[in-house]
Amino acid sequence: MTSSIDSTGGRRPRTVLVTGASRGLGRELASLYAADGWRVIACLRGAASLGGEIETQLLDVSDPSSIGALGRALQGVAIDVVINNAGIRGDTGGLSTLDDDDFVEVMRVNALAPLLLVRALRANLLAGESRVIANISSRAGSLAEGTLDDDDGDYAYRCSKAALNMATVKLAQDLRKDGITVLSLHPGWVKTDMGGDEASVPVATSAAGLKAIIDKADPADSGSFRSYDGRRISW
Ligand SMILES: NC(=O)c1ccc[n+]([C@@H]2O[C@H](COP(=O)([O-])OP(=O)(O)OC[C@H]3O[C@@H](n4cnc5c(N)ncnc54)[C@H](OP(=O)(O)O)[C@@H]3O)[C@@H](O)[C@H]2O)c1
Repeated sequence: MTSSIDSTGGRRPRTVLVTGASRGLGRELASLYAADGWRVIACLRGAASLGGEIETQLLDVSDPSSIGALGRALQGVAIDVVINNAGIRGDTGGLSTLDDDDFVEVMRVNALAPLLLVRALRANLLAGESRVIANISSRAGSLAEGTLDDDDGDYAYRCSKAALNMATVKLAQDLRKDGITVLSLHPGWVKTDMGGDEASVPVATSAAGLKAIIDKADPADSGSFRSYDGRRISW
């Protein structure tokens, strides 16, 4: 179902907002939702057309004033699903190459920005029907599983996704009374600029799996960590 009754009794399409929609997973999610009849608000750092009926908004998630401007531009717009997808990897080296500015920037984009965006769009979510926040996290940020398969450095990335996971749990607690469901989702190792050519999961497969989980999400799922294929991931 892709439409719902608005406060005036009219039908409106379900609405999803996706950050980092210029390429990779965010772009695929935007296209997938649009193909399913949703109104899509695709947030990008630079002006671009994603084609079809996809609306675009300028958003640099690393800039709190850009997040504030987006909130003002979308005042009064009901949003059913917010997907915090924009992310950066930062320096992939280990402890010896750890750079403090790089670390802070990765934390700002991957962990702080989703919180600021949720705060800016809380009224929009309350005006929506599904009321789902999907934080695109990573198994790399799982304390239990994140270091099982590889010994890459990625200190900033792993720490930022672990922090994002706590943001998911904390938001789930805070927003439960508003009927808002908050999820951490692992997209798999995806063939994108970030995942690289060796990655095992086609971007379309990942996006379809994530959308299926988001579409079915209800308050009982809030505060959980799931993989695109449905598997629960240990924190
Ligand atoms: N690919 C994987 O294997 C994998 C695995 C686990 C988790 N993830 C997560 O999945 C999400 C999407 O990753 P991806 O593979 O699609 O990465 P990607 O191909 O590198 O795309 C990253 C997206 O984030 C946007 N972005 C980066 N910094 C931004 C900023 N300050 N403001 C607004 N947008 C910004 C980029 O926009 P520009 O074009 O403007 O740079 C781009 O649209 C990320 O959160 C990532 O951590 C990916």
